[in-house]
Amino acid sequence: MTKITNKLNYDNKIILAPMVRVGTLPMRLLALDYGADIVCTEELIDWKFLKSIRRENDVLGTVDYLDKSDGSVVFRTCQKEKDRVVVQLGTCDPERALKVAKMIEGDVAGIDINMGCPKEFSLKGGMGAALLRQPEKAKSILSTLTKNIKVPITCKIRVFEDEEETLSLVKELVSTGIAAIAIHGRTKAERPQHPNRNGTIRKIAENICIPVIANGGSREIEKYGDIIKFRKACGCSSVMIARTAEGNCSIFRKQGLLDLESVIVNYLKYAIDYDNSPSNTKYCIQNMLKELQETPRGKKFLECQTLEQICAIWDMAEYCRKKQLKFHSQGILSRREVTPDMFSPKAKKIKTELDEDIIEMKCAFIRVNYPEDPDLPKSKIIAYCGKYKQDLPTYKTINQDKLFRAIATFQGKKYSSSYWEKNKRFAEQGAALVLACSLGLISKDDLIKDGSILE
Ligand code: FNR
Repeated sequence: MTKITNKLNYDNKIILAPMVRVGTLPMRLLALDYGADIVCTEELIDWKFLKSIRRENDVLGTVDYLDKSDGSVVFRTCQKEKDRVVVQLGTCDPERALKVAKMIEGDVAGIDINMGCPKEFSLKGGMGAALLRQPEKAKSILSTLTKNIKVPITCKIRVFEDEEETLSLVKELVSTGIAAIAIHGRTKAERPQHPNRNGTIRKIAENICIPVIANGGSREIEKYGDIIKFRKACGCSSVMIARTAEGNCSIFRKQGLLDLESVIVNYLKYAIDYDNSPSNTKYCIQNMLKELQETPRGKKFLECQTLEQICAIWDMAEYCRKKQLKFHSQGILSRREVTPDMFSPKAKKIKTELDEDIIEMKCAFIRVNYPEDPDLPKSKIIAYCGKYKQDLPTYKTINQDKLFRAIATFQGKKYSSSYWEKNKRFAEQGAALVLACSLGLISKDDLIKDGSILE
């Protein structure tokens, strides 16, 4: 087999480190805009990819890997980052890793194997830092990939207490043909407050012949110049930044940091343009705001549940709404419109129950729109029934592929929202919304205004 030599070179690079939930498409594009040379995804577990389906999304101009069961985005990427995005995989199995790598190699610039994660979830599954104590397994994963995959393969490790032992492991890993190795200068047991072992990284860099990417310096990195100092202290040509970038991604700017407000606005623009999920967007902004979440504005932000609500705080609600309506009219389904049978034909049988004579509306239950319990659609209906001495509605829930819809039966008629919700409670409230709307307890205009119904 001819192996295509790759373009991505790891010398002299400043890299956005892999970060769970933080390293999604908007943050990666922002980091590139600010000057990062390479951007890593969050760690993605191999079997999540294997349960996904690749779709080209013409409306957003992205390639999406969608979870087959609920349509959620496992990995979204686009042309702008194609030659600079590295997917980090969580894996403990060479064959599974290879299957995933084959699936994605045409869409990415590199693949990194996580060998440093100290979290119980990873360790129990034999992934992350567990691989540091299983060098044969680690090598088998890496060499299977380097032999069969055309994009460069790297790994990211933590160090051992003992420098020599670390160096010896690194030499073993390098023997598999990896293109570079990222080293976080802390042991599996050490936490971010412990000093980073820059000396160990330096020693490794001096003794191996592939690029070493220094990591773990965020505690001392407050401005661009500190990145260069850290790189020098570790004797490396490349460096990878996590926490400082999570807090303010403009750390990659040679010209200096931007104020947080501008960074959030720029981040939100990408979140809107690439239809990032509200929960992920909120999480990333929370990590930027940090203690600012305690301010009145921060508290208001914490109550937001839709992207539009978040955007309103930074005066971008109009832009968000227009874009979302445009996406909708071009056929992008909102998360709630993903149906269980979209990707798996076996789920068709569910339709029979829903084909009954049902009064249906497309309205989502958005929890934040009902701050007090008496405002909830179900509570309003209970109050109505009490006032007019009516029997309460009954709710029946249908659950398929981790998605839920409910049917409310009231005075012999059936009501349901055509949106699928993530849990039974929300599904019942969705059905109650339709009933409350039919009874005139909640107005359709209000539902449009609060984002429950996209016109
Ligand atoms: C991380 N880190 C991490 N590492 C990794 O290899 N894969 C991952 O998915 C994650 N996820 C993650 C999430 C968050 C929120 C943080 C803060 C960190 C570790 C990270 O990449 C890095 O190794 C350490 O944070 C040390 O580098 P800094 O923060 O000192 O630059």
